[in-house]
Amino acid sequence: MKDKLNIVIVGGGSTWCPGILKALTKHMDILPLNRVMLYDIDAERQRPIGEFGKILFAEEEPGVEFGYTTDKDEAYADVDFVLCQIRTGGYEMRSKDEKIPLHMGIIGQETVGPGGMAYGMRSMHDMVEIVNDVRAHSPEAWIINYTNPAAIVAYGLERVLPDEHRVLNICDQPVNLMRSYGRLLGRDMSKTEPVYFGLNHFGWFKHIYDEEGHDLVPQIKEYTEKNGFLPADAEQRDQSWLDTYAMVKDMLEDFPDYLPNTYLQYYLYPEYKVAHLDPDYTRSDEVINGREKRVFAECERVAKVGTAKNSSVVQNDAHGDMIVEITSAIYRNTNKTFIVIVPNNGIIEGMPDDAMVEVAASVGANGPQPYAVGKIGTFYRGLMENQYAYERLTVEAWMEGSYEKALQALTLNRLVGDAKKARKVLDKLIEANKDYWPELK
Ligand code: NAD
Ligand code: G6P
Ligand code: MN
Repeated sequence: MKDKLNIVIVGGGSTWCPGILKALTKHMDILPLNRVMLYDIDAERQRPIGEFGKILFAEEEPGVEFGYTTDKDEAYADVDFVLCQIRTGGYEMRSKDEKIPLHMGIIGQETVGPGGMAYGMRSMHDMVEIVNDVRAHSPEAWIINYTNPAAIVAYGLERVLPDEHRVLNICDQPVNLMRSYGRLLGRDMSKTEPVYFGLNHFGWFKHIYDEEGHDLVPQIKEYTEKNGFLPADAEQRDQSWLDTYAMVKDMLEDFPDYLPNTYLQYYLYPEYKVAHLDPDYTRSDEVINGREKRVFAECERVAKVGTAKNSSVVQNDAHGDMIVEITSAIYRNTNKTFIVIVPNNGIIEGMPDDAMVEVAASVGANGPQPYAVGKIGTFYRGLMENQYAYERLTVEAWMEGSYEKALQALTLNRLVGDAKKARKVLDKLIEANKDYWPELK
C-alpha cells in the first residue's frame, strides 16, 4: 500500500462524521493520510460538516487534502479506504420505524424488531449500489461499513455480492461496552482480549482476559449485580441510553452466564420496554432534538468563528477511534483484535456457516481472521438461530420481492411472534416504505 492514504467517508452529512474527522486528525501516526473526501447525496446536509472539516484539517493537518462532494466519480476515484455510514430515508423514516410498531404494542427501534427490518430493506439497495460504485473506480479499496442495521446489511451484502472480500462490517457497541467495563473496574481496557459471540446487536461477552490472563468477566458481573451499569460516557448520554445500560443488571440476574449486549433488553423484556416507551416521542425525536442539533450547530459555529480549536463536537470518541484503529490494523497489518461481523464458518459451534456472526478477530492486511468460540449454551444458541432465520428471511424477502418471506421473517421475530400481528405491521410498513422497498408480491 501507499505511504499516505486516500479516504472517503460515505454519509458525509452523518452526525458521527465530525467525530471521525477528529479521530483521523488525532491518529495520523497510525493512519497517515494524503486525502480525505466526504461524499453524501444530500449537499445541504453535508455542507456544514464539510466546512467544519476544512477548518479542522487546515489547523491540525494542513498537509492533508480535504474536500467534500456529491459527485461519485470524484469521491471514489483512487481511494484506499471507504468509511461508510449512511441512513437511507433519514431520521424521518427512522421515526416511522419506531412509531408504527410501538403504536401496535410492538417494540419500535432503529435496528430491532419490525423497525429494524424496515430499515434493513431500505439500506440494502443503497449499500449494494455503493459497493458496486466503489468497485467501478477503486477495485482494491477496503470498505469499512457500519451502516445499520449492520446484521441485515452484512448478511445481505454476502448474499448479493458473494465474491466481495473487502467489505468489513463493524459495530461500536462492543467497544462502548468494554470502555464501560473499564470505567467500573477503574482500568484501561485497551490491552484486554475479549471472547465475544453473537449476531450484531445480539451477543455476549464470554470472557475478557487481561494482560496476565485473568478473566475480568466474573468481576464485572459481580460489580454490576450489586451496583448497576453505566456507559463509559454516562454524563453525556440521553436518558434512554442510561435506561438501556441499567437493564444489563436485570439481564445478569436472569441469565448470569455471559455479559449481554445492551440491545438484548428488547428481546428479553419486550413487555416491560413497550410499557416504558412513548410511541409519540421515540429515540429519533431525542436524536433530532439532541445529537443532530448539537452537531450541526457546533459545525456552523466553527465555520463562523473560523477555528475548530477547543471544539466540543465529539461526544463519544469510542466510535471514531475504533474506525481509525481498525482501518490502521488493515493498513499496517497489525493483527490486533477487534470484534467484527464475519461469516460463521464453524466459529460458533452449531450455527449455520453463512450466518453473519459478531466475534473477536485478529485484523490485518488479509482482513479479519476470527477466533473460534466453540460451544455455547442451548438457550443462547436457540435465541441466535431464531434471530438468524429472521435476518436471512428479511434479506431473501428483499432480494426476491417476497411478501411471504417478509411475513415469515416478522412472524419469527421475537418481538412480534404472532402471524396476524406480523401481517398487520408488515402492511403498514409496506405503505410507509413504498419509496424505498421493492414491491413485495
Ligand atoms: P444521519 O442521517 O445523520 O447521516 C446519514 C447520512 O447519510 C446523511 O447525511 C444522508 O444524506 C446520507 N445518505 C443517505 N443515503 C445515502 C447514500 N445512498 N449515499 C451517500 N450518502 C447517503 O445518520 P447517523 O445517525 O449519523 O447514522 C449514520 C449511519 O451510521 C446509520 O446507519 C447508523 O445506524 C449508523 N451507525 C452505526 C453504528 C454501528 O455501531 N454500526 C454506530 C453509529 C452509527
Ligand atoms: C450504538 C450502536 C449503533 C447505533 C448507535 C447510536 O453505538 O452500536 O448501532 O446506531 O448506538 O444509536 P442512537 O440511538 O444514539 O442513534
Ligand atoms: Mn451497532
